[in-house]
Parts: sequence; structure tokens; C-alpha cells
Amino acid sequence: MKVLVLGNGGREHALVWKLRQSPRVSQLYCAPGNGGIADDAECVAADLKSLESITALAARLQPDLTVVGPELPLTLGVVDEFARRGWPAFGPTRAAAQLESSKSFAKEFLQRHHIPTAPFAICDSIEQVRSSLGHFHVPVVVKADGLAAGKGVVIAKSKEEAASVAAEMLSGKMLGEAGARVVLEECLKGDELSFLVFSDGERVAPLVAAQDHKRVGDGDTGPNTGGMGAYSTADIVDDRMRDWLVHHIARPVVAGMKAESAEFKGVLYCGLMMTARGPMVLEFNCRFGDPETQPILMRLESDLTDALEASIEGRVSEGDFKWSQDASVCVVMSSGGYPGTYEVGKRIDGLEEAAAISGVKVFHAGTSKRDGVYYTAGGRVLGVTARAADLETAVARAYEACGKISFDGAHYRKDIAGRALKK
Ligand code: AMP
Ligand code: GLY
Repeated sequence: MKVLVLGNGGREHALVWKLRQSPRVSQLYCAPGNGGIADDAECVAADLKSLESITALAARLQPDLTVVGPELPLTLGVVDEFARRGWPAFGPTRAAAQLESSKSFAKEFLQRHHIPTAPFAICDSIEQVRSSLGHFHVPVVVKADGLAAGKGVVIAKSKEEAASVAAEMLSGKMLGEAGARVVLEECLKGDELSFLVFSDGERVAPLVAAQDHKRVGDGDTGPNTGGMGAYSTADIVDDRMRDWLVHHIARPVVAGMKAESAEFKGVLYCGLMMTARGPMVLEFNCRFGDPETQPILMRLESDLTDALEASIEGRVSEGDFKWSQDASVCVVMSSGGYPGTYEVGKRIDGLEEAAAISGVKVFHAGTSKRDGVYYTAGGRVLGVTARAADLETAVARAYEACGKISFDGAHYRKDIAGRALKK
């Protein structure tokens, strides 16, 4: 079969790498892809901000299956458009993608369906923010309502800081339209967990869970990013907890969306905080996580195309996935300055030496390739991923690989999976 993957990040490289292993896949395309993806798939041009551009590409390639990586094309309605034309595409419709594209929609949805989440207030003006802040203790979380690539969340230490961040978001200076509405939220404490399930609109099948590391610096310091590293192990959640999460979170979300006539198909990413009061939903994404997908797919032993098709065709079941008991970890190497401003075009060395380490796969995110040489081309540059029988070995291999790779200004956290190793 002919498969088209949309996107250009580490997540899409992992998807392409996994799809490439399927005996069912004869032709594999990625639009627009990146320097590393070009080694595993044919990269084709497309503007993912434009439905017309994506549709024109698919009309030309006629893929048997399209997998949408990032949220933006989903929010534009790419799956709706493909469905109208009878083209199979994995992912939710525009209406269902609101779970990610509007935090106020997600919070009110959770409240309507009695799914655990932090107390919150939705504000459209700074006056509303000021009066609502009276109901919160500090620290308080301030979130932009719309899409902000993981950068629309600030944990404010004081109410003055919360008000000033909210004012900046509302003014449009900080995040444009995405900040025209803000959500204030109680700050939850606990371990974060990324719990992803495939859904066909009715049934759900969980993937193995992972833990992301959102802050840019060691010890969870500095600003939030798209994600600086993630790991997955067989015991990150036990069977009882997994069943609880399916029964109390994933299934009620899918049932609730169906009841509201916005059936959710595709992969539902539940960002959870495991608090002393139990698991609570921090956010939803309507797509695979980045970098969680890299360690998750490293542990997948069954054919990904079958599971993707099951979601599209309405026959999702837990048996769609077979997982390795091994542990896996992804350490993100980023450009110096990310998530703020950074320079690109730096030559990347040592990739071959890193890839030669047993169990290591280096997924490319912001890279380009010219004359056989790779250069940095984005904030998150590489996802150095390793798999091994235990987490300690996987982490040691990933960091050994990071040590072989160099580019000007390279930054990576030294403590990915550190807390799990201490336990
Ligand atoms: P979100 O995009 O809503 O997931 O927020 C991004 C990150 O901000 C989360 O992964 C958490 O690290 C943090 N965060 C969001 N909401 C809360 C909350 N209510 N309490 C504590 N941390 C939060
Ligand atoms: N790693 C978080 C995300 O994909 O949004």
C-alpha cells in the first residue's frame, strides 16, 4: 500500500521509521519531511497550513492511507476534506480536534462529563482575569485558549504575575489569536503521564504510556517547551491503573464526543497529572505526542498500518497492539536558545557514530540535508532514542549517543527519566 505521512518533526520520523518496517507498505511519502526522514521516505513538498496544498498533493499521490502528524492540519479540517473525497485518513475531524485546539472547550467538556480535571475559570478580558484570580491560590496556571505549540502555558508564582501574563496573552502580543481567551487553572502537583489511546469513535485501545519532560532545563526548570525527552517502560503504569484510565478517562471522553455528535477517531492523547487525589486531565492532544511517539513506537512490535486502519474502519481492539517489555527513552537535542530565539544552519556531526550504538535510533526533527551533510533547521533538532531490557541501560545508551553528536549551541537535558531511575 501507498502511505503518506504529514509533518516534519521527530514524531513523523518515528512514524515513517515504523511504517517502513511494515511488509504492507510499498511506497512511503512524507510531506514535507526533514533531513532524516528523507533517508526513510520520499519527501514531497506541501504547505501544511493550507488545505488546498494538502489536497492537491493527495490527489496527485492517491495514497491508500494518510497519517496526519501535527495538530494544525487536523484543526483546518483535513480529515473532513479527505472523508468527503473518500480518501482514508487517520485522525479526528475538525470538530473533534477542538479537544486540543480550544482549551476552554476541553475544560467545559470535561466538566460536563464529570471527568477529573483541575478547577478553572475561562476569561475573555483582563477584568474577568482580575476578579477570577480571587478564587485561586498561587501558584496559578495561565493558559492561552488556542494552539501555541506547547508554549501557551505559564505557571505564575504570584497573582500579579498571572495578571500580567494574562494581559499579554489577551493583547495578542504574546501568541496572537491563540491568546484572545485565557484559562486560569489550579496548579496540580504530581507526576505527569502521557496516556494515548487509539479510537474509532466508539472503542478505545491504549498504547503504552510515556512520560514527557516539558521544561527546557534539568530538574524541571525554565520555560515549557514542546517536550525535551520522554521514556516508556512496562511498569510506568500497572494493569490496574491502565484499566482505570481507560474506564474513567479515555472511554468517557470518546463516549462524550459521540454523544455531542463529534465522534473522535484517531489517537487521543490524554496529558495527565497523577495527583494525590487521583489522575486528572491537564490537556488533550488529538494527535501523537512529540517526543512520546519516539519511545512508544520503539516498543511497538506489531504492524502499525493495521492499527491505523482499524481506527479509520471502526474496528479498534486492544489486540491491535503487541508491545515489547523493554524500556525506551528519547533525549531531545535542541538548538541553543529554544524555546526562545535560536540560530539554524549549524552542521551536525557524529550521527553515524551515535547510530552505531546498540539499540539506538536517532530521529530527526529540525534538520535539513545538503550534499550528504545534515544541518540544524529548527528548535528541537534530534530525538536520540534508545531501547534496552531495562531503563538504566536505555538511558545510558541514549546519553552515550548524545555524547557522540555535536552541533554549535546544542542543548539537551541530562536528567531524562532521572526520577524514574531514582525510584
Ligand atoms: P498543557 O498544554 O495544558 O498540557 O500544559 C503544558 C504543561 O504545563 C503540562 O504538561 C504541565 O507540565 C503544565 N501544566 C498545565 N496545566 C497544569 C496544571 N493545572 N497544574 C500544573 N501544571 C500544569
Ligand atoms: N509532548 C507533548 C506534545 O506532544 O504536545
